[in-house]
Amino acid sequence: MSSTAAGQPTDSDQVALSQAPEREAAAQRARDLFVDAYGYEPDGVWSAPGRVNIIGEHVDYQDGLCLPMAISHRCFVAAARTPMNLLRLRSAQSEQVLEIDSHDLSPENVTGWPAYVAGVLWALRPFISGSTTQGMDLLIDGQVPLGSGLSSSAALECAAAEAMESLLSLGTTPLERVKAAISAETDFAGASTGGLDQSASVLSREGHALFLDCRDFSTRPVPWDLASQDLALLITDTRAEHSHVDGEYAARRADSETAARTLDVPTLRDLADLGEEQALARLDGIEDEVVRRRAHHIITEIHRVRRFDDLLAAGTVREHVDELGALLNASHDSLRDDYEVTVAPLDVAVDTARAAGAYGARMTGGGFGGSTIALIEADAAQQVAQAIASAFAEHGFTAAQFFLALPEEGAGQDR
Ligand code: GLA
Repeated sequence: MSSTAAGQPTDSDQVALSQAPEREAAAQRARDLFVDAYGYEPDGVWSAPGRVNIIGEHVDYQDGLCLPMAISHRCFVAAARTPMNLLRLRSAQSEQVLEIDSHDLSPENVTGWPAYVAGVLWALRPFISGSTTQGMDLLIDGQVPLGSGLSSSAALECAAAEAMESLLSLGTTPLERVKAAISAETDFAGASTGGLDQSASVLSREGHALFLDCRDFSTRPVPWDLASQDLALLITDTRAEHSHVDGEYAARRADSETAARTLDVPTLRDLADLGEEQALARLDGIEDEVVRRRAHHIITEIHRVRRFDDLLAAGTVREHVDELGALLNASHDSLRDDYEVTVAPLDVAVDTARAAGAYGARMTGGGFGGSTIALIEADAAQQVAQAIASAFAEHGFTAAQFFLALPEEGAGQDR
């Protein structure tokens, strides 16, 4: 084995393909951590997964179409109902704790990670009858890598929503829990989200991608059985520092809203529904070149999702792997050139994966750092990961982390 001065792998190293902790053992660990923290047994353990978006990026907040899937990294919540109204939160990943009367919850008086959990209880209030006490103890064990663009915050919110649904017997539907999680993030924690992440975390089905129509949040599972076709999806967590993410995300949303307003349509989805050619012709009506490119991305991306979905309906992933790969590539290129949300490590990971034989590769999630995905032959995973690791070493980037993603089940109770 050899490595560079910075300790990064070179060609002769074996790059590790990391795996999420095994689910049952992880649930047991959360239970044990609860007992350590609170000194008694929890009522149960619930969990929700992180996600990758296969295609359909930066379209959810314009009522677009997305095709995410849940991954095997999950956030676990061990929890118990308690008398009175005291809400207590602890985490295995943070020293910060929260103890608050649940009637006092407001966006102003909870900050940091607890806002993503307390905000869910706050958002679920319409489902809680006045006489129900809302006291509970929660222990969080988040296994979705933080800052990876794999939706650790959505996993946290959605696992908390599952726990609260069960503990308080609320009778909410999965979609109502998705909406409570979105509201927790947007209205309580103050971080804008278009709803893709929470939908994927709650509604995904094992072995399937999730076709998500953000106009009405309707969903349908789409067979995405990579394993039986000897194909794989390689996730590269670039571990790229992302700065100004919130500002850039808000700026892209604002550009997309300007485009819709200029063209006098409620959303760019309404324009996309005219058909790709006609919708693109209408973009000439936008004078601002940057805003026009942003809209160009959204229109073409919505049509790429439609095509991807049609191909999956028409046969196996293997049968259409070249065209599916080309759609992934086109999505990335559009996010790089029209939407301008990629950074050098994302582009290097994608270019290297393509050169190493991937059918297609793209960034996934919000961008400005985070992760990429590559559709590859299952037996090429090591070789593609190795190529990316070497390219990162050459560029002097922080060493990336690699995972193989199989489509997993959404949020639920573990024990
Ligand atoms: C982030 C947001 C999502 C979505 C993606 C981009 O992950 O939370 O709602 O907008 O970026 O597709």
